[in-house]
Amino acid sequence: MMSHRKLKILSVVGARPNFMKIAPFVRQLERFPHDFAHTLVHTGQHYDASMSESFFRDLKIPHPDVDLEIGSGSHAEQVGKTMIAFEKVVRNHKPDWIVVVGDVNATCACSITAKKEHIQLAHIESGLRSFDLDMPEEINRMVTDRLSDLLFTTDELADANLLKEGVPAHRIKRVGNIMIDSLEEHRLTAASLHPDQFCAAQAIPGALHPNPPLRDNRYSVITLHRPSNVDDKDILGELVAFLTTDVAPVLPLIWPLHPRTRKQLEGFGFWETLRNCPGVILTQPLGYHEMLRLTLGAKVMLTDSGGLQEECCVLGTPCLTLRKNTERPVTLREHGGASILVGNDIGTIRQEFRLAATLPRAQHSPPLWDGHTAERIVACFRELN
Ligand code: UD1
Repeated sequence: MMSHRKLKILSVVGARPNFMKIAPFVRQLERFPHDFAHTLVHTGQHYDASMSESFFRDLKIPHPDVDLEIGSGSHAEQVGKTMIAFEKVVRNHKPDWIVVVGDVNATCACSITAKKEHIQLAHIESGLRSFDLDMPEEINRMVTDRLSDLLFTTDELADANLLKEGVPAHRIKRVGNIMIDSLEEHRLTAASLHPDQFCAAQAIPGALHPNPPLRDNRYSVITLHRPSNVDDKDILGELVAFLTTDVAPVLPLIWPLHPRTRKQLEGFGFWETLRNCPGVILTQPLGYHEMLRLTLGAKVMLTDSGGLQEECCVLGTPCLTLRKNTERPVTLREHGGASILVGNDIGTIRQEFRLAATLPRAQHSPPLWDGHTAERIVACFRELN
């Protein structure tokens, strides 16, 4: 029986990969205005229009009720500033539940504050583990899951990780992958876009060469942002050399640049080589629909993003994951997915790129990656009320 009191839910977003996870949840909550009073907090970890605003618009996320405007900084600065600002918000709003998504610094900071303020905490995308503590995201995932009262998981491997860590089974709710709700909702809009047009509109000045029109299955895409790939001059230099000599001449390469990556390419002196390389199209960070459109048509994706690994899995886009490990093993070829781990060893990347360029699309949706995850999550909250 539903009581008359509305459940007060405060949810948090901070950085780009959070937006496609919160959008379906917020929309689902809005279907039950008599059951829920919802507050959306943006910590402002990502703040550029291209990293934040455009996602609110494309994914139809309501304007945040509170923007903490934390911005960039070291990890301690980001987490510390977020906790200080978020504590005030929590005391002011006194929610019944705080809901966090993903694994960014905002996720971890707001989880700690939630529990110190004795508020119940729910984590969407729980139980993912790379077992690599060199990744800040792994620390964020472990802390968040350890503190959470409700843990919404994407797949059975995530459940197993949590059970092994001693999380009581009744707190774990396997609901599927909420990112796929966004993908399913927006794939038709994405499919109607023309890569030539938006790539030209978003190209970095001087980085658009007269290319033949981009045709589906005749181009490749790369995204990089992890410190392990972009913060070391030798590693980034070898990757740039590989991309300009082995990839671009075979398949035109579209590279939407994360701000961190652009800074490093410029600082290490690789910028001009890349910008002048025919077949390489450098762009600003792209919007959600544009990136989804590129993934739908790419012959090969090269990425160090966890989210793209999942999208490639569902869309069947052969994906080279430029990491030594992944917290999303369900997307790997050995589990039926489209992705293979290649680290940053150029020999391995070259070999796997050549193979991937010959592979057909092989779409694979793990159980419950069906576009209805937000419905299952909100149903759990309605049962609580
Ligand atoms: C963060 C997340 C990572 C996620 C990634 C996606 C953490 C620990 N990492 O990494 O999990 O996959 O976002 O993008 O939370 N910057 C801008 N404009 C912006 C945002 C950032 O210029 O709107 C610059 C910052 O000044 C900084 C760099 O990009 O120099 C990195 O930003 P930061 O938020 O520290 O981490 P990301 O590498 O983006």
